[in-house]
Amino acid sequence: MTGPPLLERYRDLLARDGEAFPISLGEGGTPLIHARRLGAEFGLERLHLKFEGPNPTGSFKDRGMVLAVNRAVGEGARAVVCASTGNTSASAAAYSAPAGLPCHVILPAGKVARGKLAQALAAGAQLIMVDGNFDAALAAVRRLGEEGVAVVVNSINPDRLTGQQTAAFEVVDDLGDAPDALALPVGNAGNITAYWRGFHRYADAGRTPGGKLPRMLGFQAEGAAPIVRNEPVESPETVATAIRIGNPASWAGAVAARDESGGVIETVTDDEIIEVQRMIVRLEGVFCEPASAAGVAGVRRLASEGRIGPHEVVVCVLTGHGLKDPDAVQAEEGSLTPIPADLDSIRKAMGL
Ligand code: F0G
Repeated sequence: MTGPPLLERYRDLLARDGEAFPISLGEGGTPLIHARRLGAEFGLERLHLKFEGPNPTGSFKDRGMVLAVNRAVGEGARAVVCASTGNTSASAAAYSAPAGLPCHVILPAGKVARGKLAQALAAGAQLIMVDGNFDAALAAVRRLGEEGVAVVVNSINPDRLTGQQTAAFEVVDDLGDAPDALALPVGNAGNITAYWRGFHRYADAGRTPGGKLPRMLGFQAEGAAPIVRNEPVESPETVATAIRIGNPASWAGAVAARDESGGVIETVTDDEIIEVQRMIVRLEGVFCEPASAAGVAGVRRLASEGRIGPHEVVVCVLTGHGLKDPDAVQAEEGSLTPIPADLDSIRKAMGL
């Protein structure tokens, strides 16, 4: 990525007086892709994908982590800590490295995608696996934060959500206006909260023509849908491990985004998530992780029900890279069984 670092680009909207941001890994500036073939499948002319995979650690978390870690350093932190379904820990581990800060990550055992685990391990974070889910891990992290053991870099740290607002700024900059609707997966509910605040802030600053704001469309996995059900889910389950969360920290922010914007928060099934993840990469070449496909699956449903119009400008946020979770991709029957290496056998296997 060229040009100034993300926090410098939007300094006037984010920074405190004279604040320095020595740490950057080249976050933000991610592409907004006009998804013509996928849009045609859904009957939407102006469907766009905001692909967050090109961020330094492969997810949108880097936008908020860069601000949280710069401020932790500025405030003399001794260590950082987070609970995570995987992406937050990968991001925290990476940004802590140039900061020279020890990074502790608390993860639900057996439920973190392989790529994300590898990222945190490689960057030298201290991994602690707990026999519990994300919600239990986050409860422990809150306590550690209160005790002053380390700076919490989950989205209960307001700097995280401030940094994540930059994605909304970029969407408006790239489209030249706010979209009619913006769809995204909802887990701990920080991102939907941050986008909504970001669109507001940009409009209030006079940087969105006419002050337009989008409808916010949030989607939870059916087995992990506390906001839709209006009560915490004790044992959340979904193939989209990134959003396997039963008691989101930014619950109120998500509800406000939904209600103030005239939007929705609904569920999608695991089957829809996996099917749509595959459609996105087969039609558009954009490989996202399962959780990211939840927003697109939701848009497909709303479009089919006539709740999104064919000419509306719709942006779906693809929150994380598909390479993070290679195990979620199933091989076609027989395609990985070796054959002899001679040309005839290969031609035959190709169906030529
Ligand atoms: N998509 C991906 C790829 C995520 O990693 C997350 C959250 C979300 C969507 C949901 O965003 O929590 O702001 O509603 N991952 C967190 C983590 C919980 O620990 O990495 P949210």
